Amino acid sequence: MADIKVENLHKEFGAGADRVVALNDVNLEIGGHVFVSVVGASGCGKSTLLNILSGIETPTNGSVTITQAGHPARAGYVFQAARLLPWRTVMDNLLFVQTDRSEETRRRCQHYLDMVQLGDKAKKYPGELSGGMQQRVGIARAFSTEPDVLFMDEPFSHLDAITARSLRTELHQMWQETGKTVVFVTHDVSEAVELSNRILVFAKGGHLTEDIPMNLPFPRDSSDPDVALAKAEVFRIFEKIGALAVR
Ligand SMILES: Nc1ncnc2c1ncn2[C@@H]1O[C@H](COP(=O)(O)OP(=O)(O)O)[C@@H](O)[C@H]1O
Ligand SMILES: [Mg+2]
Repeated sequence: MADIKVENLHKEFGAGADRVVALNDVNLEIGGHVFVSVVGASGCGKSTLLNILSGIETPTNGSVTITQAGHPARAGYVFQAARLLPWRTVMDNLLFVQTDRSEETRRRCQHYLDMVQLGDKAKKYPGELSGGMQQRVGIARAFSTEPDVLFMDEPFSHLDAITARSLRTELHQMWQETGKTVVFVTHDVSEAVELSNRILVFAKGGHLTEDIPMNLPFPRDSSDPDVALAKAEVFRIFEKIGALAVR
């Protein structure tokens, strides 16, 4: 579990006529065992926020601190595509991001492959797996370093609806079992409502516009009327701020 503090975060790309404000004075605190979704239309700064949180990008102004019990926290990252090394086996892809290759580390990697139901695929190469399986490997790889916080950028958006649904369920079980802080970017309101304790809505220009608590019990079934109501409410907020075309 991590504590994230974002203060006066501002990010611009380019200069002159090409200048783009990707994040506009964002202030935010995220703490503990929470699943926070970041939603908004394409281009409103979601990936930029995640990239700055995970240290891939530097801010133009402002600061980010991510701590675990007062120490710098360890972060894991899951991208839109699994980004596996094709010439390494599944197990070697997990071992590649570890600090050692001890038996204990191998067992831990195997444990997370088991959790994503790929325990029997450790010796396969990524090219021998489906897209959904590869994304599962990416998730197992992120969990296998046992980070305090997991940053996920639209991890299921390239997958078919049924695979995405089963991966959401798996991810959520892993989140509940491991007690991590998860920051999850999506442009999919339904996905955000089903998974999160809290939804941050970004609008064009990189403004954090709404911070919505989601207190319904888990697991959330999309056929549950309370869940449907919550989705309708978030969609209404989106329409109000013009953040997203409703799907
Ligand atoms: N490396 C970059 N160089 C220039 N502009 C960028 C770069 N990364 C993002 N942007 C711009 O910043 C804005 C926010 O992008 P992004 O964070 O990727 O949005 P989202 O993930 O919400 O779709 C967009 O206008 C995008 O074109
Ligand atoms: Mg993005």
